[in-house]
Amino acid sequence: MTQIRTKIAGMGYYLPKNVVTNDDLAKVMETSDEWIKERTGIEERRYVTRFKDTPATMGAEAAKIAIERAGITKDDVDLIIFATLSADYFFPGGGVLVQRELGMGTIPALDVRNQCSGFIYSMTIADQFIRTGTYKNILVIGSESHSAGLDFSTRGRNVTVIFGDGAGAAIVQPTTEEGKGLLASNIHSDGRYAEKLAFMNPGSHSGVFTKDFSMYPTEEEEPYASLMITPKMMETGNYYPNMDGPFVFKNAVRRFPETIMESLTTAGYTIKDLDMLIPHQANLRIAQFVQKTLQLTDDQVYNNIQKYGNTTAASIPIALCEAWEQGKIKDGDLVCLAAFGSGFTWGSALFRW
Ligand code: ACO
Repeated sequence: MTQIRTKIAGMGYYLPKNVVTNDDLAKVMETSDEWIKERTGIEERRYVTRFKDTPATMGAEAAKIAIERAGITKDDVDLIIFATLSADYFFPGGGVLVQRELGMGTIPALDVRNQCSGFIYSMTIADQFIRTGTYKNILVIGSESHSAGLDFSTRGRNVTVIFGDGAGAAIVQPTTEEGKGLLASNIHSDGRYAEKLAFMNPGSHSGVFTKDFSMYPTEEEEPYASLMITPKMMETGNYYPNMDGPFVFKNAVRRFPETIMESLTTAGYTIKDLDMLIPHQANLRIAQFVQKTLQLTDDQVYNNIQKYGNTTAASIPIALCEAWEQGKIKDGDLVCLAAFGSGFTWGSALFRW
């Protein structure tokens, strides 16, 4: 029987025009170009144009390019999978906003909340629908507007300098071409470290997991109160992302090689067979550590974090598309996409292009 696999038929990305350099950030917080470059490799990033770009609008722009390159129209799309951690609304999700932006029919729209590994998780979900023959054209989007929720005071500098905005999209389709398409993938999580890299407020947790109830009125004080966002959170500025950078680093450099090797082994390959690794653009130092661990050459790893910062769910589709546009991914290449991030969640997807 002919085997159906998932292939990427078209890709696109959208980057907002607003370029923000390290020196620009050093004007509003205590940091420096030297510190940021040395620790992260980042030179500049993009921020959304206020009152214009959102995760959904940027995702829609990236999607238009992917749809055109796949040689289909928006009316051919059967399902939208939208990955973001910086959603336009708490609810509804961004998928339906993309559907509206693109003027699509009543196709399903699914949101994926897996942060840095959102695109990998989305791809593995799409793969199930493709291999079962349920859908023929799935639009997978990763899009982020981090700049909307960062702390631009010195207090937030360890997180803020890392992140940038942007969107990437892919159309995936079935292929029966021998040996081509998605050969293997894996996804993982470890919720023990959920708070090590998190954006907790606003949220419904009411301090249960951190055992810190100081942000909330007691039932005696206020029996009926919104616990999502409280006056104390506003007063203390407790509504920004937090990250234990060194802890994230240690876990990332362990999980990246593991997940990459898992996909290669499942597909019957070794690291020597790999033509291109597209790592989630977390931090250049992480990517370099992984490259060294796996003994890959510079030509086998694509990085663009220097220009765009860490765009979380968007980083893999942007980097993949850019590498392909530059001719660095060719027909027949063995390409691995891999991510690690908040959750912790991680995973990889191995394609024969
Ligand atoms: N500018 C100047 N100084 C800074 C900055 C900044 N932007 N940020 C932190 N510092 C200071 C700290 O205050 C601290 O000062 P102190 O020693 O006086 O207390 C010092 O630099 C060292 O702080 P650390 O947090 O220990 O810095 P570290 O050397 O670990 O580097 C970094 C921080 C770059 C975040 C690093 O931990 C890292 O790369 N971690 C991986 C996390 C990551 O990549 N996250 C991306 C998102 S997650 C993902 O996508 C997987």
